[in-house]
Order: sequence, then C-alpha cells, then structure tokens
Amino acid sequence: MKVLKTSDELQLVTSKLKETKRVGFVPTMGALHDGHAALVKECAENSDITIASIFVNPTQFNDKDDFHNYPRTLVEDKHLLKTAGCDLLFFPETAEIYGDEVGFDYDFKGLDARFEGEHRPGHFLGVVRVVKRLFELVQPHAAFFGKKDFQQLMIIRQMTEVFEFDVEIVSCDTVRESSGLAMSSRNKRLSDQEKNESIVLHKSLSFCKNNWAQLTPRELFAKVASDIGATMELEYFSFADAKTLKEINNWGDAEHVVALTAAKIGEVRLIDNMEIF
Ligand code: PAJ
Repeated sequence: MKVLKTSDELQLVTSKLKETKRVGFVPTMGALHDGHAALVKECAENSDITIASIFVNPTQFNDKDDFHNYPRTLVEDKHLLKTAGCDLLFFPETAEIYGDEVGFDYDFKGLDARFEGEHRPGHFLGVVRVVKRLFELVQPHAAFFGKKDFQQLMIIRQMTEVFEFDVEIVSCDTVRESSGLAMSSRNKRLSDQEKNESIVLHKSLSFCKNNWAQLTPRELFAKVASDIGATMELEYFSFADAKTLKEINNWGDAEHVVALTAAKIGEVRLIDNMEIF
C-alpha cells in the first residue's frame, strides 16, 4: 500500500489513474475498526483502485477536547487498510487540505436542522468542506460511507449533487460488536463497564423496530428515554422521515422512518440509528 502525504503527489497519481481505472474512495478520520474495514472491502470489490484517507478534520469538531482526545492509531490503521484491500492511503497534514481553501457558505436546506447538526454547531459545514476538498483531490468514481452516520450520509449525497461531483455515493450497513454496540472510533475510550452500559442504545433502537406497530412514537420515546437515561445522559432520541430528516409524531407522517439517537457515557458521546420501516 502506497502512502501519500501531499495534495500535489495525490493529484498527480489520481488524475492519471482516473483515465483507465475505476477509482473507489473511503474517507476516514483513522482509529479504524471493522466498520471502516467493511467500507474498504466493499470499495475494493467494486473498484480497480481503492484509495482511503485518514485526516482528523479539525473543522468538524465543535468540541476542542473531542478533537484532541480523538484516538490516533496510524500503525494499526495502515495494517487494517492493507488487509482490507486498500491500494493507496492519503494521510495529509492540515495545511494540505485547508492551505489554499477559499471558505464558502453552504445551504443544507434543513438537513442539518436537527440531531447532529443541532447538537454540534458547525459540524456539518466542516464535513462538507473536507469531503468537497477530498473529492476534488481524489476524483473518485465512487465513494463509500457508513449508515452509522445517517445524517452525514444524507448531507454527502446532497453536497455531491449541489457541487455537481460525478461521484457515486455508496452506503454501507452499520457494523456492530456482537453485543449490538455500533462500532465507533470513540468506543476505544470506553471502559468495559461503559461499553456494557452503552448496549442500551442498540437495545432501544431494536425495541422500536420490533414494537412500532403496537405503540405510538410518544409511547416508544417514553420507554427508551427512561431505559437509556438509567445509565447514559440522553441527548436526543427521535423518529424522523428517512428522506427529509424531519421529525415525525405519527407513523403515518412518513413512508420510511428512521430512529436516531445520541447519548453520553462518561466523557464519550455516542450516536446510533436504525431504520424502523
Ligand atoms: P469516521 O468517523 O472515521 O468514519 C469514516 C466512515 O466510516 C464514515 O462513512 C462512517 O459512517 C463509517 N463508519 C463508522 N463507523 C461505522 C460502522 N460501525 N459501520 C459502518 N460504517 C461505519 O465519518 C467520518 O469519519 C468523517 O466525518 C469524514 C466523512 C471522514 C469526514 O471527515
């Protein structure tokens, strides 16, 4: 696996590759786990060349401590990427990404109004800035994102259209521990007890998926808020139209509904979601 650190080197390689090879791309922030590996494998199966990036993007962290505490595990990451079938790793310094970037405003058309957008001000503008820049440099035919970050996935699809990138956005299912806990780089910061207690997020989402026909959204919320609240600090648990991410109060309000949640345990903030129907 080749490792490139500068945008110039990367652009030189990718502009040539693009002419004859189908280029697949997996952007990440490192501290990689089996969820990332699944994206890389899916990418490798569907591309001639698989490129991954590792860049802990400062502009998407609304919390400075979270940025500084974000796990950095480059040696293990390289091994995981290679094993999963990655051909080229882009591992830039901040100046390579933002050195000559001209800032811009972005209209999310409401997609950022709730959930992560509401609770992490500025987060999604940071995501859009970095993914736009990475798409320009890598020029992939396809890019692979996890449903684990459901709202992010929707925003990436939207920005791909808005900026007219000719990139196919492929979504991949959430990879979980055998306990049900969604894999996340932040899980590395959990104690064994916290890991056990965090399983309540997946249990609650599954409960909703299995019981929505018998209970109203409000009744389900009351049950899961109390279950999650017993061990975690619940930030939100909501049901939303899976197309617009507008919150719903009745099951009849949308054709497809997704439940989204975020909660803190100790200093660690976790998110998860599940398509209910
Ligand atoms: P990061 O959190 O490293 O995630 C990189 C990709 O892996 C994202 O598409 C994310 O949805 C996916 N992913 C994370 N956990 C997963 C799991 N358990 N199962 C399946 N996929 C999973 O998301 C980001 O980085 C950044 O915001 C980024 C898009 C790289 C922009 O900086």
